[in-house]
Amino acid sequence: MKTILLTGGTGFIGSHVAVELLQLGYNVVIFDNLSNSKIEVLDRVEVITGKRPSFVKLDLCNYEDLDKAFKMYRIDSVIHFAGLKSVGESVTKPLDTYENNLVSTINLIKVMSTHGVKNLIFSSSATVYSSAKHFPVSEETPTIAINPYGNTKKIIEEILSDITIADNEWSITILRYFNPAGAHSSGLIGEDPNGIPTNLFPIITGVANRKYDRIKVFGNDYPTKDGTCIRDYIHVVDLAKGHVAALTNTLNGYNVFNLGSGVGYSVLETIKAFENVTGIEIPYEITARRTGDIPVSYADPQKANKQLDWKAELSLEDMCRDAWNWQLKNNNMNNSN
Ligand code: WQD
Repeated sequence: MKTILLTGGTGFIGSHVAVELLQLGYNVVIFDNLSNSKIEVLDRVEVITGKRPSFVKLDLCNYEDLDKAFKMYRIDSVIHFAGLKSVGESVTKPLDTYENNLVSTINLIKVMSTHGVKNLIFSSSATVYSSAKHFPVSEETPTIAINPYGNTKKIIEEILSDITIADNEWSITILRYFNPAGAHSSGLIGEDPNGIPTNLFPIITGVANRKYDRIKVFGNDYPTKDGTCIRDYIHVVDLAKGHVAALTNTLNGYNVFNLGSGVGYSVLETIKAFENVTGIEIPYEITARRTGDIPVSYADPQKANKQLDWKAELSLEDMCRDAWNWQLKNNNMNNSN
């Protein structure tokens, strides 16, 4: 069976992809510097699947370490998750995000080339659609970034496109995630950000768990059904299966796919869904808009549905249920409240 390298594989998305791949019989190797994840994830992946991924702690920005580790395994394909993903930190300390995300990716491509491995899936983001004016958003929508984090995704996509033009032996698939949420149904792996979370779902579960007294809803004066922003939440297990679909439907050259449910929910609708699923009231207050938020973002997932034979199956209610189950079983998370 093939061996798949997951850079950043102990993170939120990567760990769920590791579970899906191991359960399908793939060999999984993880390289991670553990800057925003915990080594215990390996134990939990093993409990879920009965198999333990191979693991090397390393920073992809260190070319020598990466090259030395890469040649220890016979890698068939790489899924590149590793990168700094805090929008806020990318604004306050842009050079850290640019250096980390770009240098790590360039090193990875150089090492893959050196060892003749030219199958890559890249973890991108719908944040590159920040100027979208028409919805649902398709892959043809022009990309523009409104923050350094999103710009690293856009720049990396352009680098990868140029590589496939220069060398047609490369197969590079770009997966643009909309809003990942939820957790594995076991409650053993899930979203566990360092520091105080900024994404909506971990804030909701933190309020439900009384780590925070209420949610600040960033604006209710947007041009939407209830004035709050609309997003396309996609269950992290659906997202993980989208990576398996991309791996098994390897296409030649450079291909881009939106991974979203195709359905948009407002902030207030999402809060209400969580309350309905759990029976827990989620207090909130309307505050000023958050800089950089766009009013509406939801995917047209038809291209992935057809070409990858993949479709998101789990509902917003499933995401609420599984996110809450994860929070309940991991009270130690979000420790910095
Ligand atoms: C969702 C909605 C907020 C928190 C971000 C990144 C994006 C991607 C996914 C990496 C927005 C509102 C949130 C809160 C709120 N990450 N909200 N109060 O901003 O769509 O996307 O995560 O790839 O790159 O930008 O997700 O969960 O932060 O916000 O009102 O305390 O919830 O305004 O409308 P976002 P989010």
